[in-house]
Amino acid sequence: MLRVVAYGRLPRKIDDAGAVVPEIHETIAGFRATLELERMEGRTVGLVPTMGFLHEGHASLMRRASAENETAAVTIFVNPLQFAASEDLGDYPRDLDHDLALAADCGIAHVFVPSVLEMYPEPMATSVHVAGITARFEGASRPEHFAGVATVVAKLLAITGPCRAYFGEKDFQQLAVVRRMARDLSLPVDVVGCPIVRDLDGLALSSRNVYLDPTQRAAAPVLQRALEAAAELVRSGATDPGAVRDCLADTIRGEPAAALDYADVVDAATLEPVAEVAAGQRLLVAAAFGSTRLLDNLEVPGHAR
Ligand code: PAF
Repeated sequence: MLRVVAYGRLPRKIDDAGAVVPEIHETIAGFRATLELERMEGRTVGLVPTMGFLHEGHASLMRRASAENETAAVTIFVNPLQFAASEDLGDYPRDLDHDLALAADCGIAHVFVPSVLEMYPEPMATSVHVAGITARFEGASRPEHFAGVATVVAKLLAITGPCRAYFGEKDFQQLAVVRRMARDLSLPVDVVGCPIVRDLDGLALSSRNVYLDPTQRAAAPVLQRALEAAAELVRSGATDPGAVRDCLADTIRGEPAAALDYADVVDAATLEPVAEVAAGQRLLVAAAFGSTRLLDNLEVPGHAR
């Protein structure tokens, strides 16, 4: 049985175990008005933008948003703007019941689940393009992707008005793009990057892992093995970006089920190439396993000696 309790001017539904039941919002106006009330009551708001089919990686973002803010919200919206015509928009995995249960478990108070028509009632005339940082890596193989991401994230931030917005480091280029957009547009939000959550065999959690067949799934942890091998090379004193790139690429090429897309070591903020490998930079890899492209990355460690 659910109880409704007052929380300032906002009622909260509480279940038998005393946990808050998330309120579900389908309209921009309703979600915006509720979050405005939360802020007027003096509460900090944390936002986790997602495309749903939530897993433990999303759960880590939602738990952090709940722990660091008085109100935490998650958005679940499979954003058509960030998919090319040839990509998996129609097949993108969805499981709203599971998502709502996980959000409740993570202390989320508000879930925004808009329809495409609610978000884009007419074709968008406005697009947010973050130049430079979007040109390489994911941007090279998916030219419209980051404009779609930046546009929807800008819109979700404008609707929600969060103090903090949480993004996983698994999509490291996306995080860098959102950070750059927030800085360039002076958006009043703290963009928080959260560590990658991995399966026991090292594969970074991703909603797209469900597409892998058993052979591909068994092969996919090669991405993390490549990152660890390159990190070990750096720990042992390597500073040549070419040697680090070769180590990443050779490890991935050694796995027959993986088709290497890119492997590089870059500046962590700009994603530009580096002249010398140093701690704090980022190792980036992407490979296709059948028709599923997977990404992974790791912070460059310091030298062990
Ligand atoms: O990372 C995602 O799930 C999406 O790209 C995001 C940030 C929710 C924008 O649609």
